[in-house]
Amino acid sequence: MAEKLLIRALKGEVLKVPPVWMMRQAGRYLPEYRATRQKAGDFLSLCFTPELAAEVTLQPIRRFGFDAAILFADILLVPQALGADLWFVTGEGPRLSTISNAADLARLKPADAIHEHLAPVYETVRILREELPSDVPLIGFAGAPWTVATYMIAGRGTLDQGPAHALKSGDPASFDALIELITLATIEYLLAQVAAGAEVVKLFDSWAGSLKGADFAKYSTAPQKRIIAALKARHPDLPVIAFPREAGENYIGFARETAADCLAIDNSVDAGWAAEYLQVDGCIQGNLAPVHLVNGGQALIDATRQIRDAFARGPHIFNLGHGITPDADPKNVDIMLAALRN
Ligand code: CP3
Repeated sequence: MAEKLLIRALKGEVLKVPPVWMMRQAGRYLPEYRATRQKAGDFLSLCFTPELAAEVTLQPIRRFGFDAAILFADILLVPQALGADLWFVTGEGPRLSTISNAADLARLKPADAIHEHLAPVYETVRILREELPSDVPLIGFAGAPWTVATYMIAGRGTLDQGPAHALKSGDPASFDALIELITLATIEYLLAQVAAGAEVVKLFDSWAGSLKGADFAKYSTAPQKRIIAALKARHPDLPVIAFPREAGENYIGFARETAADCLAIDNSVDAGWAAEYLQVDGCIQGNLAPVHLVNGGQALIDATRQIRDAFARGPHIFNLGHGITPDADPKNVDIMLAALRN
């Protein structure tokens, strides 16, 4: 069988029509997702019930025919597996017990103790490898250490990641130890996903944009470089996508420095600029603004084609610049796909 389109793009091939998938493609904008989530009871029960997590992963593949599936899970399952309390407040988002000092840190489990808690996630991966169409690869994922640390320190999402920045400057030893623990746990977690059948992995550094100056290299680039090196030491051909969201000028050289096969970019970046300065290092993933899938119309068609055409001379995976939002209209996803593929 011919190699999967997503893998071909990740290995540097320039394709006539780029492979396409969407961040948060399994999510609340889909009525079938809402029905399965209701059956599970709540979001975390959905993540930890392999048959249902596999079902919501498959739903957007069946409905839209995307070129990749992404494991249904969450970046915050790793802190939970390390011993943090985790719960989701409907309409607000995640809440965790907080890490404020060395004593809090000492109560966490070691990195290699995560697997018992995360075993249902690995089972979801095994089910998906059986049930996905043979031409659709499965993307496994984890949060990058800085982003995961911001949630563990603040106990929730924050606008400016203030609590994490405060610990970083106020108690650098504890902060660095937390980054180290998350780095090791992330290597463990992603290796286990690959062992279970994930064919590609993605690192989400959603809050990379708030790291300035030398902090960006130290806390976004360096830990991701280390994770990618550990993965590739065991699986030299494993493609890795990195997403240091809102990195701006720090996107330049990021794929080269970390050895990521693909740089995913957010929609604050101009596609023409990205083609010139970022695509020289390899595959680019992105970067349609998610709001187009709410508003639709000619603007959606134009923006889709403009991004496709801007990246047409190099390897490209079409995606959004961030996750699709719950108020998006599934009909607009069909319009996007038609604009891209025709
Ligand atoms: O379809 C997919 O993309 C795969 C599954 C996936 C989820 N979260 C499911 C989810 C992935 C890859 C993630 C990553 C994730 N989770 C990130 C990084 C990407 C990003 O968005 O920046 C972050 C920061 C999280 C943490 C998280 N999980 C937050 C802040 C929230 C609340 C915000 C929201 O959208 O409600 C979640 C919840 C979450 N994770 C949902 C889904 C489908 C919505 C939960 C629901 O059904 O109520």
